[in-house]
Amino acid sequence: MNKVTKAVIPAAGFGTRFLPFTKAVPKEMLPIIDTPTIEYIVKEAIESGIKDILIIISEGKECIKTYFGKNGDLEQFLTEKGKTQEVSLLKRIPSDVRISYIYQKEQLGLGHAVLCAKEFIGNEPFALLLGDDLYVGEEEPVTKQLIQAFEKTNSTILGTLEVAKEDISKYGICSPKEKKMDRLVELNGVIEKPKAEEAPSNLAIGGRYVLTSTIFKYLQSQQRGAGGEIQLTDSIMRLMVEEKVYSLAVAGKRYDLGSKKGFLEATVDFALKREDLKPITEDILNNKKGL
Ligand code: G1P
Repeated sequence: MNKVTKAVIPAAGFGTRFLPFTKAVPKEMLPIIDTPTIEYIVKEAIESGIKDILIIISEGKECIKTYFGKNGDLEQFLTEKGKTQEVSLLKRIPSDVRISYIYQKEQLGLGHAVLCAKEFIGNEPFALLLGDDLYVGEEEPVTKQLIQAFEKTNSTILGTLEVAKEDISKYGICSPKEKKMDRLVELNGVIEKPKAEEAPSNLAIGGRYVLTSTIFKYLQSQQRGAGGEIQLTDSIMRLMVEEKVYSLAVAGKRYDLGSKKGFLEATVDFALKREDLKPITEDILNNKKGL
């Protein structure tokens, strides 16, 4: 069986929910404290055993490349000043992990973005991580949980979470084949952003996938779907005629970085988890209580 060693991270969108910031800086560079959100996503991939990462960018987002690239002048400057701790902050990507980039020339939707990775992937299975969904995995990183499920089934796995009725129309929704409540279930359908009344369940795709390369066959001929976009979900639905597709209820806490609430929550939670910031964060929060 093929091992999952490649991952794709789409980062080509306009980031309209974070305007005006995103007029000049990609939303993936918005920091949670001192680390751009995309680094947390890259870290999850690496901690899940991924060695080869493709980031899909668009024009104007070159600073993502700069961020993960080497800055020799800065490194030399810090080294000469004896700032070894700061030097180590520049080298957080292990040397056996490769990060490469490809441009998505038109923003035609997630399915179209993933299709840009066709040559990079070849005929291997791969992980797909969406940057708006940030996870703190329980015991294992969420992508690793999906890879383990792939190793059991040798099939496409969609990471899912249960969502409230009013949120169903924001997600790709899964239709389980049987109404069992196992974490790993076979699907007989997926639908992108259905109305709550028409949805087959409340199991939403949560921005993490392990896909077989067969998906490209369907993406190549995918017509526009919900919102006028080329939807990955629609191609996954078509893939089901020839391969099994499963959903895995992921174990972990998810932050929706596409929303200001999720972003703030992640900032506070991550600060509370850091030894150097916990006391001051608690202090700030306690002093706000009376407001
Ligand atoms: C995308 C996918 C959707 C998935 C969601 C998770 O939608 O198309 O199936 O449920 O990510 O965050 P988007 O949020 O980009 O509209």
